[in-house]
Amino acid sequence: MKVPGDKSISHRAVMLGSIAHGKTVIDGLLTGDDCLSTIDCFRKLGVKIHLEGDHVEIDGKGLEGLKEPNQVLDVGNSGTTIRLMLGILSSLPFHTTVIGDESIAKRPMGRVTIPLKNMGAKIDGREEGKFTPLSVRGGGLEGMDYTSPVASAQVKSAILLAGLFTDGNTSVTEPEASRDHTERMLQEFGGSVQTDGLKKTIQGKQTLKGASINVPGDISSAAFFLIAGSIIPESEITIKNVGINPTRTGILDILTNMGADITIHNVHDEVMEPYADITVRYSNLKGVEISGDIIPRLIDEIPILALAATQAEGVTVIKDAAELKVKETNRIDTVVEELKKLGANIEATEDGMKIYGKSSLHGAEVSSHGDHRIGMMLAIASCLASGETHIQNSEAITISYPGFFEQIEELKQ
Ligand code: S3P
Repeated sequence: MKVPGDKSISHRAVMLGSIAHGKTVIDGLLTGDDCLSTIDCFRKLGVKIHLEGDHVEIDGKGLEGLKEPNQVLDVGNSGTTIRLMLGILSSLPFHTTVIGDESIAKRPMGRVTIPLKNMGAKIDGREEGKFTPLSVRGGGLEGMDYTSPVASAQVKSAILLAGLFTDGNTSVTEPEASRDHTERMLQEFGGSVQTDGLKKTIQGKQTLKGASINVPGDISSAAFFLIAGSIIPESEITIKNVGINPTRTGILDILTNMGADITIHNVHDEVMEPYADITVRYSNLKGVEISGDIIPRLIDEIPILALAATQAEGVTVIKDAAELKVKETNRIDTVVEELKKLGANIEATEDGMKIYGKSSLHGAEVSSHGDHRIGMMLAIASCLASGETHIQNSEAITISYPGFFEQIEELKQ
């Protein structure tokens, strides 16, 4: 099987293509709702973006090509769209208003608006610009040296994107390394970022040139099938062309520690974003501890890892993952609440969860809470559970994985 294009890489390709000079061509774009929100926002800023299937062509006119929009920019459910775009909007000498859905309204924006205001952007909004709706009047930014309290690629990227158009240098230092797709892609568009350990520095006044981008499959989407293959008896699944950027492969390391039977083959590491085929076979898993600096490398895979842990012998402890509380839902609460309904022995902790395996799961009435990754985790759980499972709000899955249920049906045959 193949999984849809990587969400993080797709957003960045559209954004950098929109602020670069010349034509950008993207193949394999994820056409989930979140990336369509990014395209919609940049179209409202006056960028010509042609989308056909998963092929995109962007007619970039540089940052100067963006125009003050006469409508609000609606990011829907997408945290990556709003946080990265705030970095770009902060450089633009005009006014924009940004909104999102109910989930976005609860997510903290101060982590990007506070440093962007320090660089000189005028940002206001609910609770002094910490929550949507937000209004931005950008331009005239100055570089700065910022130490982020959280390991977040969205925070790092927002500041680096703002730094791209300032006078002087801008640096961001993180407590642990987060995904580095922005840094890699800036190079593909002719820009540059310096890395010194956990410190990233970007020089101001850079000009980007349009590029050709091939988006690999999303390892965060592949994770649902890597775990389905590991816990459903007699499975063997090969997923082709999955992105294996080392800042994203914590899931492979943990599954291997748990005793999963995983092989990585056909590795292509000569490209901007390395990719490979991954084969998984059913095996007996054992509980492990998941904590420390691996957390940012698998943060989005924790809901499905929690399901894997229900099928592992012994205890799995997930620590240092308080960031889960500010995702599309509070993923500590939603994972624990929904897996309990299916019969799992799981409890929430301050910064993670504890899961006692191995449990036999049974069907139940469950809900995605509007969170795509919770919906997909429950769908994989239902393949294993006895009896029927009804998932409310399962349509949220189209945020990152159009065609998910069809692929499950194909695999069952
Ligand atoms: C993302 C970064 C992560 C991740 C999100 C996508 C990105 O969020 O959870 O799904 O594309 O930069 P944080 O930066 O808040 O950790």
